[in-house]
Amino acid sequence: MSSSKPSVYITRRVPESGPALLAPSCQVEQWNKDDPVPREELLKRVQGKDALFCLLTEKIDEEVLKAAGPQLKVVGTMSVGYDHIDLTACKKYNVKVGFTPGVLTNAVAELTMALLLTTSRRLKEAMAAVANGTWGTWKPMWLCGPGLDGATVGIVGLGRIGFTIAQCLRPFGVAKILYSDKFENPHASEVGATYVSKDELLANSDFVLATCALTEETKGMFNKDLFKKMKKSAIFINTSRGGVVNQEDLYEALKSGEIGAAGLDVTTPEPLPTDSPLLTLDNCVVLPHIASATDKTRSAMSELTAKNILAALNGTEMPTEVKND
Ligand SMILES: NC(=O)c1ccc[n+]([C@@H]2O[C@H](COP(=O)([O-])OP(=O)(O)OC[C@H]3O[C@@H](n4cnc5c(N)ncnc54)[C@H](O)[C@@H]3O)[C@@H](O)[C@H]2O)c1
Repeated sequence: MSSSKPSVYITRRVPESGPALLAPSCQVEQWNKDDPVPREELLKRVQGKDALFCLLTEKIDEEVLKAAGPQLKVVGTMSVGYDHIDLTACKKYNVKVGFTPGVLTNAVAELTMALLLTTSRRLKEAMAAVANGTWGTWKPMWLCGPGLDGATVGIVGLGRIGFTIAQCLRPFGVAKILYSDKFENPHASEVGATYVSKDELLANSDFVLATCALTEETKGMFNKDLFKKMKKSAIFINTSRGGVVNQEDLYEALKSGEIGAAGLDVTTPEPLPTDSPLLTLDNCVVLPHIASATDKTRSAMSELTAKNILAALNGTEMPTEVKND
């Protein structure tokens, strides 16, 4: 392999289609394991690299960029969220940032629907009853849930994923879709979503979905004050990032009946410790951050990350670059 080829460090075992795109024109080094690369190893391996292919588990801050050296041109993250990357530091060191919007939207919307149905139709309790022998006879009043038909659904963050969830909701017969966001979505009327204030959304929604990005503004946003503003029967779903929720407040709200149930694909920390009080609750469903986990989606994310890196190395327009003005 020619040493004049640009070098790329990949921080994890990822679907092969991404590294395969890099291999012909780059010198690729990889942490080829399913567990995250230890920080010390990352700081060592990134030295002298032209590009870094990372995941949301790696904190990419000034220390990493400094360790890499001034030749580092691009950080490509195999995720749409980029709250693990210090954009200010990337700008300072003139490092471009690529991410993977769009290719995971359908998979995340699908998983959000799965959480909505699991919580509203009480599938966790139902499956446990089958397994532990408390099923008994068919009972008219047993394991009834609110269902989506005729419901009002509130979406906090009508971006790519929020919009696609709104499309998925329609065939289930929801009565109203409300959304709140920093900005009005000009396409909202196409999915029958109405822009309202956050308070109006919380007061009127049977289901409240968090699909916003994790930012300084949204960090810990879903706290006891917000749970208090929701209906007592409200079901809260989070497929955004664990950081948007104050988890102690969520536990109290679920335990005390301030809200009805919750479905979480993301938590703080991840993995959620097995002694987390959230796991003791029948009305809380927790998944291990699998919203984008379809074979097709993960391969597409890997390929898009590689394409972003190749474009940045070649000085051409990256397919999906994080705007960092
Ligand atoms: N669970 C998972 O595996 C998984 C997978 C993909 C994405 N995500 C998360 O989903 C998020 C959304 O992805 P996307 O592709 O729809 O991104 P997007 O940028 O299209 O949408 C994010 C939306 O959040 C809105 N927003 C920002 N600040 C807000 C605030 N203060 N209040 C309300 N809304 C606000 C934005 O205006 C935008 O409409 C990502 O940032 C990521 O963290 C999670």
